[in-house]
Amino acid sequence: MPTCHSTNDTAREHVRNTDIIEGAVFITDDQTKGKGQRGNSWEAAPGQNLTFSVVLKPSFLKADKQFYLNIVASLAVNDTIESFMPNAEVLVKWPNDVYLNSKKVAGILVENSFQGSRLSNTIVGIGLNVNQQTFKVNTATSLHNEGAGELDLQTVLNALLMNLEKYYLSLKREQYDSLKQAYYSRLLGFGQSRRYLAEYEFEGIITKVEDSGYLVIESKQGEHRFDFKEVQFLF
Ligand code: BTN
Repeated sequence: MPTCHSTNDTAREHVRNTDIIEGAVFITDDQTKGKGQRGNSWEAAPGQNLTFSVVLKPSFLKADKQFYLNIVASLAVNDTIESFMPNAEVLVKWPNDVYLNSKKVAGILVENSFQGSRLSNTIVGIGLNVNQQTFKVNTATSLHNEGAGELDLQTVLNALLMNLEKYYLSLKREQYDSLKQAYYSRLLGFGQSRRYLAEYEFEGIITKVEDSGYLVIESKQGEHRFDFKEVQFLF
């Protein structure tokens, strides 16, 4: 689409009202009302970045394992960036922001619907900053700004979709352990002592992410479990 409000919302409307096939991709050059996690917005300069959503139908997946869809999307974005920038530091910040050389380069918004105890439809929305050169905040970056030069958006999209399919098929084959290990190996703060802010500031080590998505941090006071909005990383 040349323009649209939010590819996640457009994809959702099609899933509701039409018999859309799994794997359908909704992509726009100019997303005017992009949605982020926690009610935030996602802004991207028109024609310079990737803003798209993929429709999945993971009816094989139990609802209590829903976070594997975030893992699949995070790994796909991570691998894609690494394939264009082999020497860069690419990390996932839980739950699924992607950081390139310590700045946010991509955001992922996974929206699930359920049928009983299983998933029915999932919209995986991905915003990846590719060629944009100026940002309102200095905590954001693009592949271009970290040294990749000007990239062809279609080439980056193709690589990302191939990686997404690879990890999604691995999920379909129930390769939970290898997906989790791959996620941990790219997870900011995993096995390292860092500072966090919840109701109070504390130092801790991420020891695991539960299948439902809860983040587990071990501190001197014991083990803490956090839902999506309940903890902030301090840099
Ligand atoms: C975040 O960082 O909070 C997630 C951002 C997700 C942005 C993408 S852009 C394509 C898709 N459509 C949306 O409205 N949001 C996602």
